[in-house]
This record gives sequence, structure tokens and C-alpha cells, in this order.
Amino acid sequence: MADSWEVLKQECMQCRGCGLAATRTNLVFGDGAQNAEILLIGEGPGQREDEQGIPFVGPAGQLLDDMLEIIGLDRTKVYIANVVKCRPPQNRDPLNVEQDACIGWLRRQTALLRPKIIVCLGRIAAKAIIKEDFKITSEHGQWFTRGGVQMTAIYHPAALLRDAGKRPEAFVDLKSIQAKVREVCTRTGI
Ligand code: URA
Repeated sequence: MADSWEVLKQECMQCRGCGLAATRTNLVFGDGAQNAEILLIGEGPGQREDEQGIPFVGPAGQLLDDMLEIIGLDRTKVYIANVVKCRPPQNRDPLNVEQDACIGWLRRQTALLRPKIIVCLGRIAAKAIIKEDFKITSEHGQWFTRGGVQMTAIYHPAALLRDAGKRPEAFVDLKSIQAKVREVCTRTGI
């Protein structure tokens, strides 16, 4: 049977595929438009996201919303998901075994969405989605093509909160994303 957002979400919400299920308050499935041309991928929920069940609602999420606004985007024009759907304790990096257990959900979300552009937020997502040896400091803002989808990675908003010195580079990357959206997206209108 063909996959659907309803079936996928229902199955995902019951997932106990790794140890993170035991400590979650809420599973964080995703947010945004299910017909968006742009998919943003973070690493995993933090405390606020775990509490609310919505991705990027804490401090990093507020910065992400501001970053999107700079280039004329908002949550009605993108879809936001994470590599892992449940919060790693103390916000540690998700383990490979946790990412491997969870990545199938993101693949199904991506197959349903069929985005034109994927933006990885930070190193963990870039390694999981673009290439295993991705180097965020030297390769952020570069474009890669995988199966006809344009992909890039930018610094994670949490990294930009910790180190404001990275913000000028992030601004350049955002402008590059804006140009790419204008080039390849037909319905996003920015
Ligand atoms: N950081 C992430 O990578 N994802 C979220 O949903 C929130 C913070």
C-alpha cells in the first residue's frame, strides 16, 4: 500500500526502535508544510522540543525562525524534521545506533515530501544525509546533488548561539539558499 503522512505519523509515534524511546516525553515527528519544496533537517530534539513535541521551538528554534525570515521563508513554506525523533539525554549527540534505528522515518518523510532542496542544520545531519565524512567548517554552504535533490548544510543555529563569530558565514549561506530556492522551486515564491 502507498505510504501516507497519516500512516507514517501513526507508526512513528509508537516507535520503540532504540533506547531513546524510554526517556522521551514526546516524540518529535516534524513540523511545517507537507507539500513544501524545502526540507530542513536538524539533529534531534532538545528539552523544549521534547516537552512540546515540535521541532526547533527552544532558543535555537527562535534563531532558526529569524534565519528563515531573513530569506523570506517561514514554517508554512518549509518542512522541518530531525535525524532522530526522540531527545538524547542531556542533549548529547545521537549515537550511530540511534540514528540507524531512526533514519527510516526521515527517509519516508522525504519520499512523501519529494523536496527540491534539503538544508542540513549542522554536522550531525550533514554526515547522516550528505556524506559520512562531511566537514561542517570547510564544507558548509557548498551544494551537492543526490538523486536530483539539491543539498547543502549550514551551521546549526545552536552553534551560532554559542559562537556569534560564525554568523557572517551563515548569512552568506542563507543568501545562497535563497538564490537556490529562486532557481529551482516553483511554488515557494520568495
Ligand atoms: N536542535 C535540533 O537539532 N533539532 C531540534 O528540533 C531542536 C534543536
